[in-house]
Order: sequence, then C-alpha cells, then structure tokens
Amino acid sequence: MITTVTLNAAVDVTYTVDRFRSGGSHRLPAAHRRAGGKGINVSRVLAAAGHDTTVTGLVGGPSGDAVRLELAAAGLRDSLVTIAGTTRQTVTVVEQAAGDATVLLEPGPEVTAAEWREFRTHYRHLLTTSRVMVLSGSLPAGLPDETYAELVLLARRHDVPVVLDCCGPSLLAAVPAGPALVKPNALELAETLGGSADVRAGAEELRAAGARSVVVSLGAEGLLAVTLVGAWSARPPERLSGNPTGAGDAAVAALSAGLARNTPWPERLRQAVALSAAAVKAPLAGDFDAPAYRSLLSGTTVTPDG
Ligand SMILES: Nc1ncnc2c1ncn2[C@@H]1O[C@H](COP(=O)(O)OP(=O)(O)OP(=O)(O)O)[C@@H](O)[C@H]1O
Ligand SMILES: [Mg+2]
Repeated sequence: MITTVTLNAAVDVTYTVDRFRSGGSHRLPAAHRRAGGKGINVSRVLAAAGHDTTVTGLVGGPSGDAVRLELAAAGLRDSLVTIAGTTRQTVTVVEQAAGDATVLLEPGPEVTAAEWREFRTHYRHLLTTSRVMVLSGSLPAGLPDETYAELVLLARRHDVPVVLDCCGPSLLAAVPAGPALVKPNALELAETLGGSADVRAGAEELRAAGARSVVVSLGAEGLLAVTLVGAWSARPPERLSGNPTGAGDAAVAALSAGLARNTPWPERLRQAVALSAAAVKAPLAGDFDAPAYRSLLSGTTVTPDG
C-alpha cells in the first residue's frame, strides 16, 4: 500500500476563457471542478497505473464533502480525517488565446491542535499497513514548518520510507529527519536553499543534510537524481506540449512505486520520466496518457551524472 498525505486538500476550479480582461466580466460556458491537492493527484496516478493506494489528509466543510464524493466516484480509497475548517478552493483561469493560465491559491483552513493530534493518531495507524508514505504539498494555516519533519520521524519509527514533495521552510525542517526521497523542482530547490547554486550542488546539499536521495525535476529536461548508490540524469525524448501542471505529481507517483518495489534506480528514473511526460499529454492533473507512456519509456534516456 502506498499512502499519500494531502494536508491542504482543495477543490480545484478551472475556468477557460479565450482572452482574460483584467477588470472585465467573462461569461463562461462551463466550470470544471475537481478534487485536488498534490497527494490526491499522486494517488490518482498510482491507481491508474494499477498500484494499491490510500488517500489521507485533512478535509472539512462543504468543499471537503465534495472532495470525498469525488474520490469515491473515482474509486480511490478515502482515509481522510474531517476537521471543522473548510477545505480551500483553487482557481485556475486558462487563457486560450495566450496559451497560459493564472492560478489563485487560498491558504487553506486553520487546523487546531486537537485536530492535529487526531490526525497524528490516524497516521500512526496507517503506517502499520503502508509500504511507502508520500507527503505532498503546502501546509494549511495553523500547522508549523516542522509538521512534515514530525511525520517523517513517525514513519521512520515504523520503518516506512517517506517520499516528500514540498519546498521552503517545511522541506528544510524535514530533511534532517531522513526522508527516503525528496523531489523539489529546480526553482523550488533554489528557493529553498536561498541561492542560485547549480542543481547538482543543491541536490548534494540536501543529501548531506539528511535526505537519503534527492530527485530534482527539471521540466522538459527530465530528472536529476543523487542517491547513495550513484547519480543519474534521465531525459524524455523531446519537449512535449500539453499541461505540465501535475507532471511532478506523476513523477512522485512513479518514484514511490519504484521505492515500494525496490526497482533499480536507472529503471525507476526511466519510469518516472516517462510517466510524468505522459502526464503532460493528459489535460487534467492526476491523469496520464497510457499509450504515450509506453512509447516514452523506450525513448527516455538515463545516463550516469558524474
Ligand atoms: N514539457 C515537457 N516535456 C516533457 N516532459 C516534461 C515536460 N514538463 C515536465 N515533464 C516531465 O515531468 C517531470 C516533472 O515536471 P516539473 O519539473 O515541471 O515538475 P513540477 O514543477 O514539480 O510539477 P507540479 O508540481 O506541477 O506537478 C519532469 O521531470 C519531466 O520528466
Ligand atoms: Mg511539484
């Protein structure tokens, strides 16, 4: 079982307009709503790729109910904990003429100390049946930067490896706790370390600080991995056009599955690049294009890095 944790779940609302006029009003043919949050996207990809997965995290209010209904409709195992606050919405305005998008992110609900204690008890229980724990995304209000550090330590006590996808202070605080893998993208890595050091040097720095392996995602350039047994770079055959939002979540899904199965690193990275590139070819975050995945697997190159 690969369990994903989404502490700041969301209902993702997407509006598509031809041209966005700041200060104007826009009539929309339709609005698209979907349960979101990075861990939920990771579980969607895992389930679609045939892996056993459970979703946990915090949800509340009518939008929290909407997340749960949708997970049930998608056939995803829901082990979320209910809180009093209301799950946030995110709004993405896709502008077709310009081919880009504007994203508005609410901070998320306030989580009380009692709710956090309840979650922690639930999390400990889930550790007894999890092969890998995936912690993804931002923290809601009321939870300190040390939150992921605490969850990594609890997992280690149960000998469950953690894959961590977050950035900034919560990543820096969690690295000394010894996550099995962290996956920042290049920008997140630079911002977290507060410098413009090159990617390899930044990855080495996080490893020296306690992460057992560091995989940095580089958009269309693929992945750079620094591990105990070597460093590799893995590249897709070409830059693909499509929707790159959620490609990182697909990479995390493949890396988590590879960890659960102890797949050798080069093959694990090949699968992560092919699956994440195939996610670019799917319009919605959390989905991937299965035929594209199969052809991308053979076109992806993995080479030792130094
Ligand atoms: N344009 C692209 N063409 C081919 N592959 C891509 C492209 N964009 C992303 N990928 C694949 O997806 C992986 C993750 O992408 P990226 O580095 O953008 O992640 P991210 O910023 O964490 O994304 P998110 O957090 O939105 O899911 C890359 O390592 C690469 O394998
Ligand atoms: Mg990401």
